[in-house]
Amino acid sequence: MTSPAALARCLNIADLRQRARQRAHRASFDYLDGGADDEVTLRRNSEAFARFELHYRVLREAANPDTSVTLLGESLALPLILSPTACQRLFHTEGELAAARAAAEAGTVFCLSTLSSTSIETIAASTTGPKWFQFYLWRDRGLAREMIQRAKQAGFKAIILTVDLPAHGNRERDPRNGFTIPPRMGLLQAWHALRAPAWTFDYLSREPIRYANLSGNAKATSLQSFIGNHFAQGFNWSDAEWMLDEWNGPAVIKGVVRPDDAATAAAAGFRCVMVSNHGGRQLDHSPAPINVAEPIIDRVGHEMEVVVDGGIRRGTDVLKALALGAKAVGIGRAYLYGLAAGGLPGVRRALEILQNEIVRDMTLLGAADRSLVTRELLGRR
Ligand code: LAC
Repeated sequence: MTSPAALARCLNIADLRQRARQRAHRASFDYLDGGADDEVTLRRNSEAFARFELHYRVLREAANPDTSVTLLGESLALPLILSPTACQRLFHTEGELAAARAAAEAGTVFCLSTLSSTSIETIAASTTGPKWFQFYLWRDRGLAREMIQRAKQAGFKAIILTVDLPAHGNRERDPRNGFTIPPRMGLLQAWHALRAPAWTFDYLSREPIRYANLSGNAKATSLQSFIGNHFAQGFNWSDAEWMLDEWNGPAVIKGVVRPDDAATAAAAGFRCVMVSNHGGRQLDHSPAPINVAEPIIDRVGHEMEVVVDGGIRRGTDVLKALALGAKAVGIGRAYLYGLAAGGLPGVRRALEILQNEIVRDMTLLGAADRSLVTRELLGRR
């Protein structure tokens, strides 16, 4: 169990990660924590922030900085949003409900994955906070259309089309652990379950973990074969336009690392781009988002809002992205470690840690509000 005192002793996101590793089932933790191939991009996403130095200003009266930003017309209390991630009940039984609630309390956007383990409608009924719906193009167009309509009816403000998953990335921790959704309990998984008693108690006593937006009881399969069977394969820009037409509202494209692709997305009608490589889970050796954010912002920043997503673990990471010109950042693992460590209080703790760091770092930077966090503050090593 992770007690409130234990969560309070987590001083940073890395501490929450250690707690998550202790509490969660190994297959779940590795699914959360791991990346593609040799995990070069996974590591680099975080390490790349160290390339930037912060050339702070002094005597600027920034003791109580205003951390708010605007994104797609929404005023956010913090310059970060909770990026969409699949099947959060794998990490802790409270899953997406906890993440959505903590996001609303923190005054920011929760993004629900198409592959969520809590349904579109359940999340909508649970929170009045701003929420966006992440979408993959299903092979079955009828199902794709139905998902889009359900999200619209449930009051999701924007749709996020994830475009960096034309095939499932090669995440080798998963087959080694026999990872499936729903979790299958063979000998190896049962052995790992014994070593994660709090997680296993929930697994045995709570509602089964499943893809909650799909009807029927899917049988336990690897994510790789699920994606291969259900998502459209050769999907292209005209499919993206089809989705924009069906949605007919604010749309975000996620998974872009090139200025030319961002420009094509802007021309197609996307209003926001998430510079992202799927947390290093798809193409290994793809660039760290923070390293490609600048040319993308320079190319499309006048017509699209830019969000940077990947490797954010510290308040300074958030401020470096804002200084380059991002409107906000997306966090994934940073809040999921909190979730896996301790459910709702764990997500709250993750957001509190980042909020405290952002506030302190803005004061130290001499920036009283977001408009003062500019490229002039950045040095490059
Ligand atoms: C992931 C997907 C499917 O596991 O979003 O990264």
